Amino acid sequence: MTRTREMKLSAYLVGTGMHASSWRLAGANPGASIDIDYYRALARTAERGKFDMVFLADSLAINEESHPNILNRFEPITLISALAGSTDRIGLVATASTSYSEPFNLARQLMSADRISKGRVGWNIVTTRDLSGNTARNFGSREHYGLEQRYRRAAEFVQVVRGLWDSWEDDAFVFDKASGRFFDPEKLHRIRHQGEFFSVEGPLNIARSPQGHPVLVQAGNSGPGQQFAAEVAEVIFAIKYNFEDAREYYQAFKRLVAGTGRNPDDVHIIQGISPVIGSTEEEALRKRRQFEELLTDETILGFLADYFKEVDFSRFTPETTAREAGLDTLQAKNPDYPKHQAVIARENPTLREVYSLIIGSFSGDHLVGTPEKIADTLERWFRDGAADGFMLMAPGLPEGLNDFVDEVVPILQKRGLFRHEYTGSTLREHFGLPVPPNRFAAAKERPVAR
Ligand SMILES: Cc1cc2nc3c(=O)[nH]c(=O)nc-3n(C[C@H](O)[C@H](O)[C@H](O)COP(=O)(O)O)c2cc1C
Repeated sequence: MTRTREMKLSAYLVGTGMHASSWRLAGANPGASIDIDYYRALARTAERGKFDMVFLADSLAINEESHPNILNRFEPITLISALAGSTDRIGLVATASTSYSEPFNLARQLMSADRISKGRVGWNIVTTRDLSGNTARNFGSREHYGLEQRYRRAAEFVQVVRGLWDSWEDDAFVFDKASGRFFDPEKLHRIRHQGEFFSVEGPLNIARSPQGHPVLVQAGNSGPGQQFAAEVAEVIFAIKYNFEDAREYYQAFKRLVAGTGRNPDDVHIIQGISPVIGSTEEEALRKRRQFEELLTDETILGFLADYFKEVDFSRFTPETTAREAGLDTLQAKNPDYPKHQAVIARENPTLREVYSLIIGSFSGDHLVGTPEKIADTLERWFRDGAADGFMLMAPGLPEGLNDFVDEVVPILQKRGLFRHEYTGSTLREHFGLPVPPNRFAAAKERPVAR
């Protein structure tokens, strides 16, 4: 029997929302990003909507230009451990960096959270972008790793973490009170890893969880980042602003996965969306305007000055056009810029609009409107080869999540695109992902090569 393909949904939880002015909306709680009761309520709402997972992003440094919701926030693994106690079924994904952690510590923290949640954890593997050098300075190093090096370190890091997770075979603990045998030493394994970046003996002091290993999530953008994701990730997180780009990315990425010898169906591509939902198109447009009007000139120009270090924005206002500021022809140092530049050169937006485009607080017009319109867009992307699911990065929280759960999810369910109830209990089960075999147990079963 073939299972009907179902859309995956994840909720990106970040204080009062993705939009930089969301904290200024009437009714918003600007202290939300460190309010555990608030996060509990968000996670429960996402669970009521039968979402596959909630997602916690992270960074390890801030500056004055940082998004208000990241200036003051929880460490993600600590937070998902707390959310595990307030929810029963939804997956809990925490971001952690391979450039600024040790594999032993992280393997242990993630497996503890995975056991606390009974197999609902995912790890968003990041290598940390550090254009300003602020992160490196928090960790005693003067310079951040270069691109190639940080992904080499990431690959070795993940290899060590997975090896540590397999330290104990699933039936290693015999707990035989009569004989006094607590565990079977044949089923305890040391990875004895010696590599370029790490030297780790093992074993880990915690056994595998009901889902074997936490689900591996990744969002690499660059060539090495995508190759790394194709080799290890089970859920890929991307942000594309229109259907054509999303489809092209999706198709190319699935080919990349197939090229590594993995089954492309075991890798789910989730597209980030920031919809604005209204009962009418006009209401949605009005809501979007409200966010924009609350942006201060300092927020816009400060962000752009940080993003384009080579341009002097003190001479401009938010109404200056991209062409007047020279952004259409700029050879920008920021490696993210080329993906926006074509749109900016073509449409000559104001700096206010450039800000919104780059920061991605909203998706395009295809995701501004009524619940039916949003559902139509998601259905098209899902059915026509552009996405396996979506990461809801609501411009304003909790409203954007509440509206999506109450108004968009029922439409997706009615159309047979999304689950009505959870059938599994682990995050792997929600995604239909296999439990990774314990490498040491599997090696014993393999016939000896002649
Ligand atoms: C949707 C999305 C979410 C991301 N979330 C984080 C995050 O929470 N923390 C982080 O350090 N990097 C995050 N990143 C950055 C990526 O992991 C990656 O470093 C970045 O896209 C640059 O790609 P590259 O490392 O391949 O150059 C995210 C990227 C994307 C596309």
